[in-house]
Amino acid sequence: LRVPTTMFTRSAARISKGVALSANRQASNGVRRVTLIPGDGIGPEISASVQKIFEAANVPIEWDPVDVTPVKGKDGKMRIPSKCIELMHINKVGLKGPLETPIGKGHRSLNLAVRQEFNLFANVRPCRSLEGHKTLYDNVDVVTIRENTEGEYSGIEHEVSKGVMQSIKLITEVASRNIARYAFEYARSNGRKMVTAVHKANIMRMSDGLFLRMCREEAANFQDIKFKEAYLDTVCLNMVQDPGQYDVLVMPNLYGDILSDLCAGLVGGLGVTPSGNIGKDTAVFESVHGTAPDIAGQDKANPTALLLSSVMMLRYMGLNDHARRIEQACFDSIADGRAKTGDLGGNGTCSSFTNDIIARVRDSQ
Ligand code: NAI
Repeated sequence: LRVPTTMFTRSAARISKGVALSANRQASNGVRRVTLIPGDGIGPEISASVQKIFEAANVPIEWDPVDVTPVKGKDGKMRIPSKCIELMHINKVGLKGPLETPIGKGHRSLNLAVRQEFNLFANVRPCRSLEGHKTLYDNVDVVTIRENTEGEYSGIEHEVSKGVMQSIKLITEVASRNIARYAFEYARSNGRKMVTAVHKANIMRMSDGLFLRMCREEAANFQDIKFKEAYLDTVCLNMVQDPGQYDVLVMPNLYGDILSDLCAGLVGGLGVTPSGNIGKDTAVFESVHGTAPDIAGQDKANPTALLLSSVMMLRYMGLNDHARRIEQACFDSIADGRAKTGDLGGNGTCSSFTNDIIARVRDSQ
């Protein structure tokens, strides 16, 4: 897995004195620092909830909160403040709330900027049925692993002639192999049994064909993990009829974007689904729902998606015991139901749900 070294050289030169000092603090007190992007709308409320729960669980991390409101550069273009990127270069781990997407304002989205800057090539979204939140199925336990950097989202588009537009679907051997290998490594290190490559190589023989070939080649290196191949349409059909048959699914960018939301829908929606964007040595974990402007500032937000994303982050950082305790407290609170937030059919608030989880975390110490 290679990240262009120029990325680090470029940004190392941009690291400001103030930010570098925080890296020194990280080294001296032994506590890991995490970049926190609270985000917009309900972002600050759900971020505060996670921070309180982490404090109660004595998680040995300190936060570097950063504002990502776009600023005007010297060239007059709107950009994300460089401090955010600088902090990510130092801390290597970030937790991100939802960001309002300005339409037609002409600057790169933060998601895209961070993904490209750090080559966060894998998007990982575990979807698991929650006890206490009834949905159509109670046996969903799948992880979608989506190639995050190319495919139809490579941004290569042009007008062929008047009224004819073309977008290029870019599939490379390197990116396909990286994501395939990551999926098998993820399966192995998370006690998963099977990886299914999701594709349309019957139609896109060259691009998806290459992706599939890389999956097959990597599968040969992971004999302990069962490997299957399936067409995207077949997976969609099976997923809504019998989701229990899937485990880890790996796929190109666009398929993953769609299928991961479908899986989230099976377990209760984006409000309860965590996600992580993983690179070679940097990762950003985020809730995948939006800023929920209709309930922002009203103490109605459900912090579960961001909290479970932060649990993924703790496991990524090797803080497995803290992860297990916080995750269990969250699942137990939802199963109990008394503090559940309105989106899950309960009468709880963001604060009461947070306090209930805190009480359970303290009990587990
Ligand atoms: P949304 O996800 O913000 O809201 C859709 C519905 O779900 C609303 O009724 C909202 O109240 C509810 N909801 C979402 N998250 C919730 C939570 N944690 N707890 C309780 N209820 C929750 O989607 P919408 O309205 O389409 O987008 C609003 C803004 O968010 C837009 O500016 C959009 O661009 C942005 N957005 C940002 C994302 C990100 O940063 N990852 C992802 C999706 C949207």
